[in-house]
Amino acid sequence: MNESYTIAVLYGGKSTEHEVSVHSAATVCRTLQRKYRIVPILIDKEGKWFLQQTCCEKTPSDVPITPVISDKGTLFVPCKNEYIKIDVFFPVLHGTNGEDGTMQGLLECLEVPYVGCGVLASAMGMDKEISKLIALQAGVPTVPYVKLTRDVPYEEAALKVWAEKQGYPIFVKPIRLGSSVGVTKVKDAAQLTQAIAFAFRFDTDILIEKGIDNAQEVFCGLLGEGAKVRSSECGELKSLAGEFFDYEAKYITVGGCETRVPAVLPEKTRADIRHYSEEIFKVLRGSGLARADFLVDKEGKAWFSEINTIPGMSETSLYPQLFEAAGIAYPDVLDELLALAIKTYQRKQTVLTERV
Ligand SMILES: Nc1ncnc2c1ncn2[C@@H]1O[C@H](COP(=O)(O)OP(=O)(O)O)[C@@H](O)[C@H]1O
Ligand SMILES: [Mg+2]
Repeated sequence: MNESYTIAVLYGGKSTEHEVSVHSAATVCRTLQRKYRIVPILIDKEGKWFLQQTCCEKTPSDVPITPVISDKGTLFVPCKNEYIKIDVFFPVLHGTNGEDGTMQGLLECLEVPYVGCGVLASAMGMDKEISKLIALQAGVPTVPYVKLTRDVPYEEAALKVWAEKQGYPIFVKPIRLGSSVGVTKVKDAAQLTQAIAFAFRFDTDILIEKGIDNAQEVFCGLLGEGAKVRSSECGELKSLAGEFFDYEAKYITVGGCETRVPAVLPEKTRADIRHYSEEIFKVLRGSGLARADFLVDKEGKAWFSEINTIPGMSETSLYPQLFEAAGIAYPDVLDELLALAIKTYQRKQTVLTERV
């Protein structure tokens, strides 16, 4: 990677994971600025873009900045009447409007290299049903589920029979969200209706899933693209604070979770998880990075849970630790991501956009 490159790091966003994203991006900026010129851009909770001095939450000195569609990779600072040329965009955005393909679509229109999965893989990865279907296609076990759509009536009695058959606990969750927002562990039929109404506050589609009770939660990082994707070491997180790995355990409660890298797993389970993760990434047509999450049951069987195409990237997040454990230092991971962004962009440039 050319060290004279200017990298725009995008973070914050109109998402329930805004704060988590700022935290991730602070580490990414700090690590990259040792080598590159960084342009830190906060997207506020209304979706407005601001140029910052350093990556943090909103400050009074932030300056409005806007992307320019008609001039490849250019940003405009109205109050200074100044243009900034960006070589690579690095979206460190979690969840809605950032990780779900929408930002990737905008970056495609800006015709600029950007880090991570493209529009399709991002959108599919964000949707917990579509990503399960992808996993099944790749031959990976996934937990049984029922999908509900808001304003489409469903048979409550039949749903309760289904839940009874799976056995409680059941997990109810928004189909396209993260950080455990809107997720409820349902222990009996009486709690189901309320959990459904709660999840519908965050999304128009929700999943009701068979619960893997007392599951070991195991995570595997992915780096690369297509057939050349590499999986990291497996890691595990344990919630010490609540009944499951909820938002509080993840980010609020001090000591709310315990991280173990490498995860304590039977060798076969570890190998399965790494293989499953790579296969899912390939079928998803992932590029750059992702983290695949699994629930391991008492018998040591791994069930695919979800894939995050922009996983947590702060120094305390799993993704950097998983690759450190695999012998790849974080600055090298980030360098590889930037190089891949440029390679992917250059490859796209070779495609004809006119008939011959
Ligand atoms: N089917 C399930 N069985 C057991 N635990 C689950 C299940 N689904 C979710 N959970 C618990 O809820 C947490 C959040 O759910 P998850 O599907 O990972 O959503 P998010 O995208 O918000 O992280 C998981 O880390 C796990 O602790
Ligand atoms: Mg999760």
